[in-house]
Amino acid sequence: MAELKNKRILMIIGGGIAAYKALELIRRLKDQGARVRAILTGGGAQFITPLSVASLTGEKVFSDLFSLTDETEMGHIRLSREADLLLVVPATANLLAKMAHGIADDLASTTLLATNKPVMAAPAMNVEMWAKPSTMRNIRQLRQDGVMIIEPAEGELACGEVGVGRLPEVDVIRDHVIRHFKGHKGRLHGLRALVTAGPTHEPIDPVRYIANRSSGKQGYAIAGAFARFGAETVLVSGPTHLETPQGVDRIDVETAREMWRAVQKNLPYDVAVCSAAVSDWGIDQQAGQKIKKESGADQVMTFKQNPDILADLALSNRRPRLVIGFAAETENLLENAREKRLRKNCDWIIANDVSAATGIMGGNENTVHVITGDGEEAWPKASKEDVALRLVEKIAGHLESNP
Ligand code: C5P
Repeated sequence: MAELKNKRILMIIGGGIAAYKALELIRRLKDQGARVRAILTGGGAQFITPLSVASLTGEKVFSDLFSLTDETEMGHIRLSREADLLLVVPATANLLAKMAHGIADDLASTTLLATNKPVMAAPAMNVEMWAKPSTMRNIRQLRQDGVMIIEPAEGELACGEVGVGRLPEVDVIRDHVIRHFKGHKGRLHGLRALVTAGPTHEPIDPVRYIANRSSGKQGYAIAGAFARFGAETVLVSGPTHLETPQGVDRIDVETAREMWRAVQKNLPYDVAVCSAAVSDWGIDQQAGQKIKKESGADQVMTFKQNPDILADLALSNRRPRLVIGFAAETENLLENAREKRLRKNCDWIIANDVSAATGIMGGNENTVHVITGDGEEAWPKASKEDVALRLVEKIAGHLESNP
């Protein structure tokens, strides 16, 4: 069956030894009815010839941004628009880095920056290059930007080393493309997810407030992961400096009460993850004007309890199927977390030790314990994005097996 009938694919062939596999991929895509055009990078042309690419695509091969004929005949903007999908194979570390940073210094990278079409990339490189923090950062960034990344395979690499970094088999890449066009919706498609994130600000007067050290990074990463899994994702966020992850519907609030209202107003949800560091108290009598220090007297303030967003969700008659809370503790982590799970009537608790020495508050990594009704898992230290993906993966598994 021609699964890719009339789909226009613009292949961008990077400069890696795996470039030769791109030739076979062109055939397999065309076998499915796709119309394939190709851009060959300078590096790519060191491995395969424009002539072999042109013979297989049956089209002119584009390779040079400043070639006057290419620009007058086609132009990189049009080239990027006249495709339904841009497919980068092999995506070298260099090309991924350029994509992640918006560098446009040749036809391939300029087209990738200029496009308004979906982009899929199949990285291939040496195992150490793949594992480098810089490459991992770029991959995370690209995922966050909505680029579909096909994970490289494990095995013997062209350089003789063994590990992760091989270009996946050509059929695997072709199947990713087919799934993309079939409208593969993601495991959480059709479900609605809530994430609360960030700190809250509790005003004292018009210029002062009480806050905490939460950065919101973990919650934002979870919201991003939900969206990538296809969930309709509502992120209710306290004040942060973070960018809204792709595909997420963000509602900004300041105080715990505002957060409570936003969460209640947007009910129902299928799953809720409350990761916000909500202030347990607000100032009882906010001053209408800036409090003056002239009197010389100490200030006495009364704190009033804030509503508990998580507990109220868990008790709601429109309770989400899965309610997950966080327990940020500086001592007796697991004991407190277990107790919190029961007291707040939530299904799972993610426990993390936020004592100053861990650097978790505000940092990019997290070490968590996941406490469910069935047991406890200690997850190794990982980036907040990786923790988020693993968590959402677990959530998807749970919802699939408990429909
Ligand atoms: O009670 P504690 O603040 O330690 O509980 C933490 C969990 O409860 C987190 O999931 C947090 O988002 C949630 N919470 C809440 N509303 C509050 C206080 C905490 O949703 N007012």
